[in-house]
Amino acid sequence: MQPKDHHDWASETYVDEWVKRQQSEDPARAQRFELMCDRFPFPHDAPVRILDLGAGYGPVSAFILDRYPNATCVGQDGSAPMLDRARMLMARFGERFTPIESDLFAKDWLPSRFGSFDAAVSSICLHNLRDFVRIGEIYGEVCRRLKPGGVFLNLDLVNAPDGTGPFPAGLDDHLVALRAAGYHGVSCFWGDARLALLRLRLTVSSSRDDRVERGRRALHRLATRRLFAPCSEVFGEARPRGNSVSNTSSLRRSRR
Ligand SMILES: C[S@@+](CC[C@H](N)C(=O)[O-])C[C@H]1O[C@@H](n2cnc3c(N)ncnc32)[C@H](O)[C@@H]1O
Repeated sequence: MQPKDHHDWASETYVDEWVKRQQSEDPARAQRFELMCDRFPFPHDAPVRILDLGAGYGPVSAFILDRYPNATCVGQDGSAPMLDRARMLMARFGERFTPIESDLFAKDWLPSRFGSFDAAVSSICLHNLRDFVRIGEIYGEVCRRLKPGGVFLNLDLVNAPDGTGPFPAGLDDHLVALRAAGYHGVSCFWGDARLALLRLRLTVSSSRDDRVERGRRALHRLATRRLFAPCSEVFGEARPRGNSVSNTSSLRRSRR
């Protein structure tokens, strides 16, 4: 797997540091994983098969396997050091977790022996490819491996609505690419626009009242001037077209 950006997923040291940092955020990320599970179109005891693209050390798969006792996950990733950590951290699930090492740029990244899936998930992975054409192709490749009624839930980083940002595309481009890839019911059901970090420096002045007033104004600016940083994190949902199974509860939720 060739590095496409500053991430060096093939490096033991890099992955070790990245995983430690990320694990400290896992309790906060659990809320997002829960939102994702809420969109699954099956009951919690269903014997389902889930594909986790760019599974990394397995935080999403672990969350799913804990919540769905009869589910199994295939955790795909192109990084050997990442999958070593996944094998260790996911050992408690035994055969319910199957790691597979493959590069998403390879045409056969998901060999046919893995069959089809009730759902596919992905968390902050696909933007790493830095290639929107390839991401669109992967959307189609995932779509063709979903069972009828299946769903693809993708949490990823997108550029700001004004088009600025370091990522391959903005939200609207992703929604269009998902439809073109053969999904219907394509929607973004959660988004977190990153706020630009405003540096607050209160000038020390001679008068206390003046300082208080400056502080008050600065806080007001912070509260009202919600600047878009050049990225937002979004969760998208998509179902293969021609799929007659509908999930009314998730439709209801998505109208909120
Ligand atoms: C930011 S991490 C996310 C890991 C995990 N999904 C999570 O939420 O913590 C991105 C993952 O995508 C994988 N990845 C990046 N480019 C890839 C490629 N071309 N093929 C396969 N995996 C890739 C990396 O190895 C890494 O594990």
